Amino acid sequence: MNVLLINGSPHAHGCTDAALREVAAALEADGIETTIFHIGSQPVAGCIGCGGCVKAGHCVFGGPVVDVLPLAEKADGFVFGAPVHYATAAAGMLGFLHRLGYSAGRTLRHKPAAVVTTARRAGTTSALEALEKVPQFYEMPLISSTYWPMVHGNSADQVPGDAEGLQIMRNLGHNMAWILKCIEAGKAAGVTAPTAENSVRTNFVR
Ligand SMILES: Cc1cc2nc3c(=O)[nH]c(=O)nc-3n(C[C@H](O)[C@H](O)[C@H](O)COP(=O)(O)O)c2cc1C
Repeated sequence: MNVLLINGSPHAHGCTDAALREVAAALEADGIETTIFHIGSQPVAGCIGCGGCVKAGHCVFGGPVVDVLPLAEKADGFVFGAPVHYATAAAGMLGFLHRLGYSAGRTLRHKPAAVVTTARRAGTTSALEALEKVPQFYEMPLISSTYWPMVHGNSADQVPGDAEGLQIMRNLGHNMAWILKCIEAGKAAGVTAPTAENSVRTNFVR
């Protein structure tokens, strides 16, 4: 089994990366393979709702949203990480998630997901809430930890100073590993994911 950890920071080796690496180490210790994918250091735009992906099968604007697809297809679980920018999740990661969900929600559906954030000081819980929106839309069971999954620091060298934050990351990794093993055991016993009802769409037009 493989968990794909997505670093939604513009910094490949910053605080978000340090947090994700702690989650990954716990997963690996529990026998789960991990892959870390960085969305890059360039600005990542959001979805414009053009619908081009319906025909193409992927976001027509390319970039990390398309580069990640082979990894996303084979992943059994996801960890979405992003730093706090202006008291919410970094806009690039939200753009990435919105375009990934809209163009390739099939790669996410029913796979367990966790969200992680990092900040110098404030805005962490708003950021976590923002990061949860796409996993919630695609029926991804959300994995929790022993506190809201955040690590404090302004640069990667400060992250080890947040011992509790790193403990939360390790507990998150172990919880993710446990749920993945439960799902695998369930599948072996014939328990499959439900097929959602999808025929009704109400746009609140009266
Ligand atoms: C544009 C921008 C806005 C930021 N806004 C906040 C903020 O609202 N609250 C906060 O605590 N830190 C804020 N920070 C600091 C980062 O959240 C913090 O340094 C984070 O740990 C960096 O993670 P990274 O190294 O993975 O990019 C901001 C940083 C940037 C670049």
